[in-house]
Amino acid sequence: MIIAQLSDPHIAAPNTEFDALYKTSEKLKTAIKSINRLKNKPDLIMITGDLVNCGEEAEYKILKSILKELDIPCYLGIGNHDCRETFQAVFSDQGYLPENGFVHYSIEQENLRLIMLDTNIFQAPQGVLCPERLAWLDKTLSEKPDMPTLLFMHHPPFKTGIKTMDNMGLEEAKAFGQVVEKHDQVIRIFCGHLHRPIQSVFHGTPVQVCPSTSHRVMLCLEGDETLATTSEPPEILLHVWDGNNLVTHSMPTADYEILWKLEGELY
Ligand SMILES: [Fe+2]
Ligand SMILES: [Fe+2]
Repeated sequence: MIIAQLSDPHIAAPNTEFDALYKTSEKLKTAIKSINRLKNKPDLIMITGDLVNCGEEAEYKILKSILKELDIPCYLGIGNHDCRETFQAVFSDQGYLPENGFVHYSIEQENLRLIMLDTNIFQAPQGVLCPERLAWLDKTLSEKPDMPTLLFMHHPPFKTGIKTMDNMGLEEAKAFGQVVEKHDQVIRIFCGHLHRPIQSVFHGTPVQVCPSTSHRVMLCLEGDETLATTSEPPEILLHVWDGNNLVTHSMPTADYEILWKLEGELY
């Protein structure tokens, strides 16, 4: 089974300064094209938040029309740029989403469980998993202790060293870590928000950040407090599950040329 992860499309309305700079819809369409040209199509797609840039209804409608080009099931989560209520109103026809309240849910396929979490704090750049959301996660994980599980969420739970992004990270991450530690079946945590590919380990579980389909945050380490975006090529992640093990590949969304290809046997 292949799970494609996309993140942070930040769909903006046309004729805005933001969209003139980043061409967000065009870039999401490019990401979808990169999936459609794969010989082995993903079985499902997870999008880990910052679906749109300003949380507006018009933006969600653009996103919805772009996602209609997919013939693969697509599951959405929200980030700090999203508006929970507006998102739920536009996507109210999606059977997997709760009608109201937090945008968290669990799906199962091929003996693998995928749980989407909601770290959104209304109109704040930081994220949190409050006691109510953690209680839901703890209860949900307790229901299937033997099923390998992937957690998807917008805000990564670890510090990156990119100071400006760490200042808008996940608050109260330790409480989340205590829930993760309790449940051995959680084999990976996949996030977005940072607009860069970054890996770490959190309370014993590997965590990987999926870059944005739109733009990157510039890499500024060691106390450099610059916050800037770059034109580094957008990427998506492909998580390949063989029933026992999960391997994650990153894939650029832009077109590329094959420079050489083996014809016949190598040896
Ligand atoms: Fe973002
Ligand atoms: Fe974000």
